[in-house]
Amino acid sequence: MSTQRRPLIAGNWKMNGLREIAMPLAGELATKMNNAAPTSFDMLVCPPATMIDAVVDVAYESNLAVGGQDCHMAESGAHTGDISAQMLQDLGCSYAIVGHSERRADHGEMDDVVRAKAEAAQAAGLIAIVCVGETEAERDKGITIDVVAAQIAGSVPPASTSENTVVAYEPVWAIGTGRTPTSDEVQEVHAMMRTKVTEILGADEADKIRLLYGGSVKPSNAVELMGLADVDGALVGGASLSHDDFWQIAESCP
Ligand code: PGA
Repeated sequence: MSTQRRPLIAGNWKMNGLREIAMPLAGELATKMNNAAPTSFDMLVCPPATMIDAVVDVAYESNLAVGGQDCHMAESGAHTGDISAQMLQDLGCSYAIVGHSERRADHGEMDDVVRAKAEAAQAAGLIAIVCVGETEAERDKGITIDVVAAQIAGSVPPASTSENTVVAYEPVWAIGTGRTPTSDEVQEVHAMMRTKVTEILGADEADKIRLLYGGSVKPSNAVELMGLADVDGALVGGASLSHDDFWQIAESCP
């Protein structure tokens, strides 16, 4: 982790969080953020769309940021069931995750769609968290680096900056499985990602952009993962549903 990159600890609640769980979870985190201020990290929660409004209220006047888990590429229009980046911004969100592997798999989202969504998020004034990562079959074939490099080239909008974009490396086989790559493997991919981002954004922006690791991050492995040179935070699924675990992960940032 570079001293010029402020770590981001992002919680992706996925399709979890009815009011009775979401409200106290967000409330605990907002309180912890207030009590610990100023923190050395940024903290974000991405609740399901149904809970965003309520979580924004709970997080009001704390440094807990709120984001969406996805957005549509269009500003508005005839897209039943979808939510635009502008709508997220209107609710008080400051981030939107795009291209999560579950969206890529469940909704057939390809790189060009992910890039269009990232552009929509940026245009609405949000920070786009662009997710990339190889499947287990791709890792077994030894093509992890090629796959992730191609996803970055296809999914990260060329006009991105370090202010409006974060890139998250999430090996698909590590999500929700309790398995993670070794630290050397994570650092190797992240170093390649920074090189790839340099080709798109130039050296200055690539040096400042935050690269998150995601996939079975938990308190027991966070110190090691967050200590890696090119890891600037975490995108956390399961462990973000416990305020204690999520807070411990945040406190693991060097
Ligand atoms: P996990 O999920 O932490 O439960 O592995 C990570 C993610 O999908 O963002």
